[in-house]
Amino acid sequence: MLPRPKKPLSTLGALRAASRNALSFCDEELFDRLIVSRRYGLQRVLFVSDPAGVKHVLLDRFDNYPRWSSSRRLFETELGTGTLASEGEVWRRHRRVATPAIDARSVASDIPELIAIAEARAGRLNAVARKGQPVDLQGWLNRLSVAMWNHVVSGGDPDCVEVINMLAQVPRRPSPIDIVPKPSWLSEILTGAPSSQSVAANATLDRLIAARRDPAYPGPRDLIWRVVHGIDRETGQPLPPSEARDEVASLVNGGVATVRAMTWIWYLLALCPEAEARLHDEVDAVTAGQPIEADKLQQLRYVRQVLDETMRLYPPIPSIFREAAEDDVVCGEPVKAGTFVLVMPWLIHRHRKLWTDPDSFDPERFAAGMAAQRHRYAYLPFAAGPRVCVAAAFAMTQLLITVAVLARRFRFRMAPGRAVIPSGTATLRARGGLYVLVEPR
Ligand code: HEM
Repeated sequence: MLPRPKKPLSTLGALRAASRNALSFCDEELFDRLIVSRRYGLQRVLFVSDPAGVKHVLLDRFDNYPRWSSSRRLFETELGTGTLASEGEVWRRHRRVATPAIDARSVASDIPELIAIAEARAGRLNAVARKGQPVDLQGWLNRLSVAMWNHVVSGGDPDCVEVINMLAQVPRRPSPIDIVPKPSWLSEILTGAPSSQSVAANATLDRLIAARRDPAYPGPRDLIWRVVHGIDRETGQPLPPSEARDEVASLVNGGVATVRAMTWIWYLLALCPEAEARLHDEVDAVTAGQPIEADKLQQLRYVRQVLDETMRLYPPIPSIFREAAEDDVVCGEPVKAGTFVLVMPWLIHRHRKLWTDPDSFDPERFAAGMAAQRHRYAYLPFAAGPRVCVAAAFAMTQLLITVAVLARRFRFRMAPGRAVIPSGTATLRARGGLYVLVEPR
């Protein structure tokens, strides 16, 4: 577990801790109190963990809580008008095109190929298992995830792999100067130009998009195709060309979150042999020794519980950053315009007032009927409200496939002598990798 400071850190201490690991400034008080108001330097910060307050910020008054301007600017510089970076009418327009481009129906026909990709790569992992050497599972899963995601995004075009890898670096790691409050003109100067990675990614994306605009395009109606040709049901128009490119980039970037959940599940299973055995039994029963079939994924009920519990303890997006546009009150706490409002799944999912034995791994929390016992806003790996993750259904499908394919063949044991440290800025990764020994089952 990540060590927690006993008491709130000073502004300098918090900045220093956050620059090493964005979650290490989270002190014990934040896991005990549901609403915490602080001041770091000149910046007011409100930590909202009360589910009623979370609902207020993310749903009821979501227009008053746009993305925190400093984090949005980091995305905006690289992703332009895409859903991850925009606000207001531009965001609404993008969201209306993005949602149907990645919903469960539009990716259903990709599932057999996603299973085939995972099976082929898992087959190659056998050779690694035979060598008995520790392997960085996080890195391996990242490559698997990119291959699966590339199939959805571009129908598997090899040029697009580089685009996905480059956009995965966005946003760059924020420096303390990004976080310190400052006038917007100064922020614009300091944020600078887009990185060379996103410039190169956009050039390739332009080419992939141009091919799909050609009426004679022979390829599949992949995600890029669906965004470029998607019609906004309110205006009856597609997105303007440069905005369509931004939207593809934004969706491609969003896809990186899935690999985070993929990583932590194996770590938790390795530490909990009973859950691992039960998961193996279910996977064996559903697959009967053959690759999983698309229509059997929904039978993996215990795998789903394990995934839900994994994303509780290790939420792939650990922090949701918002900023109050106007004065407001959240759970009785006055909020001044300009206050930085933090809704952190990392805190909420391990909060002592919301969960029993919050730091322990217990997939039974997500057994059938258990949802009724908790507040809907006490568990939000995919956020909530109008800006809920646009691809939650797809992400769950990708995770179920990965677990079904890997758990049928392997068990993973933590490599001795390697510390596992959760580290999070935009997404929660295992710092330095997750080293495991691969054992064929
Ligand atoms: C396990 C995997 C995933 C998790 C846990 C996750 C989680 C989240 C969360 C918490 C947000 C809200 C962020 C905020 O408002 O600050 C979000 C938004 C978003 N996610 Fe995901 N995500 C996952 C996978 C994906 C995938 C595969 C895509 C690919 C399309 C994606 C695309 C997006 C986009 C575009 C948004 C912005 C939505 C908007 O602002 O309207 N995510 N996701």
